[in-house]
Amino acid sequence: MTVDHATTLAEARQRIAGAPDDDALRELEREYVDKSGLVGQLLAAIPSLEPAERGAAGRAANELKQAVVIALEDRRRALLTAALDAERKGDGFDPTLPPPSVERGSLHPITQATRRLTEIFHAMGYHVLDGPEVELDWYNFEALNISKDHPARDSQDTFYCDEEGKRVLRTHTSPVQIRALEHLEPPFRAVAPGKVFRQESTDASHEHTFHQMEGIVIGKDISVAHLISAMKTLLRGIFDRELEVRLRPGYFPFVEPGFELDARCPFCTEGCGVCKRTTWIELLPCGLVHPNVLKSGGLDPDVWSGFAFGLGLSRLVMLFRGIDDVRHLLGGDQRFLEQF
Ligand code: PHE
Repeated sequence: MTVDHATTLAEARQRIAGAPDDDALRELEREYVDKSGLVGQLLAAIPSLEPAERGAAGRAANELKQAVVIALEDRRRALLTAALDAERKGDGFDPTLPPPSVERGSLHPITQATRRLTEIFHAMGYHVLDGPEVELDWYNFEALNISKDHPARDSQDTFYCDEEGKRVLRTHTSPVQIRALEHLEPPFRAVAPGKVFRQESTDASHEHTFHQMEGIVIGKDISVAHLISAMKTLLRGIFDRELEVRLRPGYFPFVEPGFELDARCPFCTEGCGVCKRTTWIELLPCGLVHPNVLKSGGLDPDVWSGFAFGLGLSRLVMLFRGIDDVRHLLGGDQRFLEQF
């Protein structure tokens, strides 16, 4: 194999100098310096030469290789410099600018409210409990004084998890009342935040999945006065000041007497959008624990008494954050979530 090295090198340099990009350079590298390329072939041919010619041929092939490799490197560097120059001139590239900021997520408004409230309750001496979302009929209804044919079951349209109707998705956090009675030594105080489920057709104020926070306090001679005082302490924890409360009668099979507790609107004195111009906001349903519930939980109602409340977390978050559609809460739309 004979090659005119000077002509080959001149031609290679010309082609390399005209290569438009890295891919083209890689292609030329393959053609000239790789094992299967020109230099590779020259080196492979050496053993077939006359012994006297081998030394010179080897040196020439290696010189050619060196020269081509240098030309390739020069062109690569030139292309890179040109690209950087273009970027600098084109859109004002400035290597001293700080990098773009990293986006940070935030906690969901329900999580924020849950944490804030459990912190306040914890400071008031409450245990923070958890309960199963797939619940036995016994805990969700029966033990809470809601018998099989009780009309209260109609209002809580239930997702049943089996044919016999033994397992349900809990329709409220109240089953945790019974679990607390079973597991904690009285006297005790406990709250239980969590998801609840109802078979609703959804609209702006109805969602099949939402959040509540149950509260139960058990002791001796517990009265409505204790309930009111606990709720006022809670409100002081949230709003940092005294808020007037009032009770209206409310019916729930697991409390007797049962109430709806309202608080003075924390945002106005004359009526505003949040309190619908009434100066009162509906805070939560509550009452004294029904003797049958104490019995279900294994306590003697002649010895023990208590109060319970059911904070509608989703509703309160909507009220205080000005959210007009409950479906936003669990919709997962980032444009909604980014606002918190
Ligand atoms: N569990 C009831 C509901 O979801 C609320 C409630 C809880 C009422 C505790 C009284 C006491 O509607």
